[in-house]
Amino acid sequence: MSGNPPPDSPQPPDEILGIEDLHVTVHHGAAAALRGVSLTVHAGEIVGLVGESGSGKTLTCRAALSVLPPGVGVARGTITFAGQDVTDLPPRRWERLHGSHIGAVFQDPTSYLNPNLTVGSQLTEVLRVKRRLTRAQAREKAIELLTAVGLRQAWRVFHQIPAELSGGMLQRTMIAIAISCDPELLIADEATTALDVTIQAEIIELIKDLRDQRGLAVLFVSHDLAVIRELCDRVVVFYAGEVVESGPVEEIIERPRHPYTRALLRVASVGDFQRRELEVIPGQPPQVGARITGCRFAERCPAAVAACRTADIALTRLGTAHEARCVRVNDPALATTSAAVTAPAPAAASAGSAAATAVDPELASR
Ligand SMILES: Nc1ncnc2c1ncn2[C@@H]1O[C@H](COP(=O)(O)OP(=O)(O)OP(=O)(O)O)[C@@H](O)[C@H]1O
Ligand code: SF4
Ligand SMILES: [Mg+2]
Repeated sequence: MSGNPPPDSPQPPDEILGIEDLHVTVHHGAAAALRGVSLTVHAGEIVGLVGESGSGKTLTCRAALSVLPPGVGVARGTITFAGQDVTDLPPRRWERLHGSHIGAVFQDPTSYLNPNLTVGSQLTEVLRVKRRLTRAQAREKAIELLTAVGLRQAWRVFHQIPAELSGGMLQRTMIAIAISCDPELLIADEATTALDVTIQAEIIELIKDLRDQRGLAVLFVSHDLAVIRELCDRVVVFYAGEVVESGPVEEIIERPRHPYTRALLRVASVGDFQRRELEVIPGQPPQVGARITGCRFAERCPAAVAACRTADIALTRLGTAHEARCVRVNDPALATTSAAVTAPAPAAASAGSAAATAVDPELASR
């Protein structure tokens, strides 16, 4: 079938964030930490980033926000926001995007809030600067926002300093600040990681509501695959600075095609909380900047063959929205190899076995 879609067919939602072939280096250009990362987030869509510690999730978020740390820089690639190329946008223009169009929430709200100022004064400051509201208008809007993010007695929270609030309340406050100017995109990097399960579930509901009510696009990083499954529409799997698989969340979780994704899912035991055995992925990911020909997962992959190490491996399209970076992705025999990526060996892990790197403890504990 070809030709134009019928006039009444639904249009795809607008692309809010586009990252294309992003290469990021660390140590002032000496080592590559992200290698050709591409991903998109559309209006009203929640896209999850997963992968072991050090795989490049935070650098991707920071690059998308143009807040890379010193010595870290974009070497190649493009970043677009609502169709506009923002890769080389000057800092002053970025200031206008931050808060007004792109909100961000990180794991540790205390490092982003001034400990000496009340929540109300910090929130009203943002509203006065970014939305040019009067003091009275900003105050009214701040109470409205604190209420919208589920803080009971918002007026009381308004007058409190960060130290007087619990972790969940602080994270809600950060979300209130992040959405205060009605952004099109929210970037949440481990925003729920430090919270207990009940509060985490409430924050997830809040993000879902914001998506539903405001059509917010969300880039959401978590080590917790159960949270990713609950919240996200699509998931992007990172390994050693590359995207190794991406696709609709149910498809990735039910039918992962890349051996690393399979290993990650086995570790997480998604959907089966009775099976909480600690499984490990043997071996270590390559050092950042390591020059490797072929698949970066080959050293740890139970399915590796000679062809995996001869040339760089492109992503293979597996469906309308599903891709995986593996030479054996269409090999029927591969479906049985994931069982080899198991080592239910809590003893080895707790003994700190050098031969077996436990994936993030949080992943393992699910
Ligand atoms: N400021 C920096 N200077 C040097 N290297 C860095 C810097 N920030 C990150 N890196 C390196 O870049 C790689 C990717 O880091 P990143 O923080 O994106 O990982 P991550 O996937 O977010 O990990 P985690 O799950 O632990 O948060 C890592 O190898 C890390 O050591
Ligand atoms: S390309 Fe080879 S080494 Fe890499 S994941 Fe696929 S089978 Fe394993
Ligand atoms: Mg990180």
